[in-house]
Amino acid sequence: MKKLNRIVCKLCGLLMFCTPAMAVEMPELARRNDCVNCHAINERVVGPAWIDVAKKYAGDPMAEEKLLVRVSKGSSGFFGLIHMPANDPDGRKQAEMRELVRFILALARS
Ligand code: HEC
Repeated sequence: MKKLNRIVCKLCGLLMFCTPAMAVEMPELARRNDCVNCHAINERVVGPAWIDVAKKYAGDPMAEEKLLVRVSKGSSGFFGLIHMPANDPDGRKQAEMRELVRFILALARS
């Protein structure tokens, strides 16, 4: 059994299932704003995994501002062919959108 556990854990490690990010849950804010319909932390759903978004923008000092605009107004062509609709077209939820973008970018540091 022990050996099996070790193998399973190795496999998980390879698949990044044992990384700390696994413990991260989608925040309540992401549920309320329907991000969870298309996104998950560690895997692609309709949109890219948030951990991949975080890695892509790691080290980009403008990432927060860029992503705030794209999440609010919509985005396409960065991760594939599927378009992300605007999540805050009239700009009434900018504080919430910024908090979500910060959450996503912080995943690369966890
Ligand atoms: C209808 C499905 C859908 C919903 C709802 C959705 N997304 Fe997306 N998201 C996508 C797709 C598809 C992409 C990839 C777009 C691209 O290739 O540029 C994406 C990309 C992103 C990116 C990367 C953008 C870029 O320019 O690199 C971020 C950040 C993001 N989503 C955050 C969010 C947040 C936060 C919410 C909730 C407020 C949300 N998404 C809701 C489908 C969705």
